[in-house]
Amino acid sequence: MASERTLSIIKPDATERNISGLIIARLEGAGLRVIAQKRVWWKKKDAQAFYEMHKGQDFYKGLIQFMTSGPIVLQVLEGEDAIARNRAVMGRTNPVDAEPGTIRKDFGVNMQRNSVHGSDSPESAKREIGLCFKKSEIVG
Ligand code: PPS
Repeated sequence: MASERTLSIIKPDATERNISGLIIARLEGAGLRVIAQKRVWWKKKDAQAFYEMHKGQDFYKGLIQFMTSGPIVLQVLEGEDAIARNRAVMGRTNPVDAEPGTIRKDFGVNMQRNSVHGSDSPESAKREIGLCFKKSEIVG
């Protein structure tokens, strides 16, 4: 598998608890390299654009509210098989179901406050990286 890029978000529940560094250490420990990073506070329109595929789901409104409730850290991660590698270190969406030693098991609170997001396919990685970063902000 060649080197790949994925979009990662450290969510408001994690920035609020000041555990971004602990999460980044887990990502780096899993062989992922942070090649772009910025701390932002999304407006409603930013979250709506990012999560447009979930529009109509019962959790959508709460998800938008949560993702605009505080600062987040946007990252581009690079590494071999980065999309699957990131999802493995993140763990399952619901922290209760996440495997021991994963970020969501150790830091996640519930389905919404689950500390991190990671792209789920090469197509979504391309879309999400393009939404969040200019080419000049990514230094591989
Ligand atoms: S789904 O249902 O298959 O589309 O779920 P998933 O692909 O795992 O992503 C859903 C994102 O919405 C957030 N979220 C919830 N999902 C399911 N149920 C509830 N109640 C819920 N509340 C919030 C979840 O954290 C996923 O966020 P991201 O940022 O994509 O990981």
